[in-house]
Amino acid sequence: MMTGKFITFEGGDGVGKSTQIQEIERRLKSAGLPVVRVREPGSTPSAERIRSLILQGQPEDWLPMSELLLMNAARHDLVERVIRPALEAGTWVLADRFADSSRAYQIAAGGLSPEVCEPVIQAATGGLEPDVTVLLQIPMEQAFERIEAQGGDERRFESKGSTFQRRALSAFYALAEQFPERVVPVSALGSVDDVTHRIWTLFEERGLLSDEARAE
Ligand code: TYD
Repeated sequence: MMTGKFITFEGGDGVGKSTQIQEIERRLKSAGLPVVRVREPGSTPSAERIRSLILQGQPEDWLPMSELLLMNAARHDLVERVIRPALEAGTWVLADRFADSSRAYQIAAGGLSPEVCEPVIQAATGGLEPDVTVLLQIPMEQAFERIEAQGGDERRFESKGSTFQRRALSAFYALAEQFPERVVPVSALGSVDDVTHRIWTLFEERGLLSDEARAE
């Protein structure tokens, strides 16, 4: 019996996901709810090792299928060791990316077959689905500007170029159309508070928050 809520955050690179996840974590905690925050790929010692393999280096280092398998190896470790036990203990899990990123980046942008890849994702997650996926969106050009401003040594994906990034973004829009009950576009424009408020309102609309938390 799972009682915790599983919320995933998706969107193009540079859309402000990590700031929003921190804000939502803060709000949930001050409402007295137990929360864990994870990022993909990573968040367990083994998955962090896979993260360094995939996110550093050159764009051509990994073929899309190798990437899919590595991402999902990391995902399986995280689901089994952290996410599922947390949900079973009644803890909220906030994930910076999850399976939809594999659908957008490896399948849609990487050109892999969904028929071949979906079973891999299902094997990794054991069929676990988020309660809600917050799809943060800003206009594409602004997203690119934010990416340029960030830098860092984990830029292999950003180096894949604008066609790749655009394909991935279109795939996120398509997922929102395909699974409107689960994948909800939220505008990431405006102040940090504006965006947090939109996400919190979505949680209220979906009945995810208890009465006590709602009063926050
Ligand atoms: P990260 O630096 O965490 O980027 P962001 O802050 O935009 O989330 O790197 C994660 C990168 O990995 C991101 O470019 C998307 C990519 N990725 C995939 O291609 N497939 C996946 O399944 C996941 C989880 C991430």
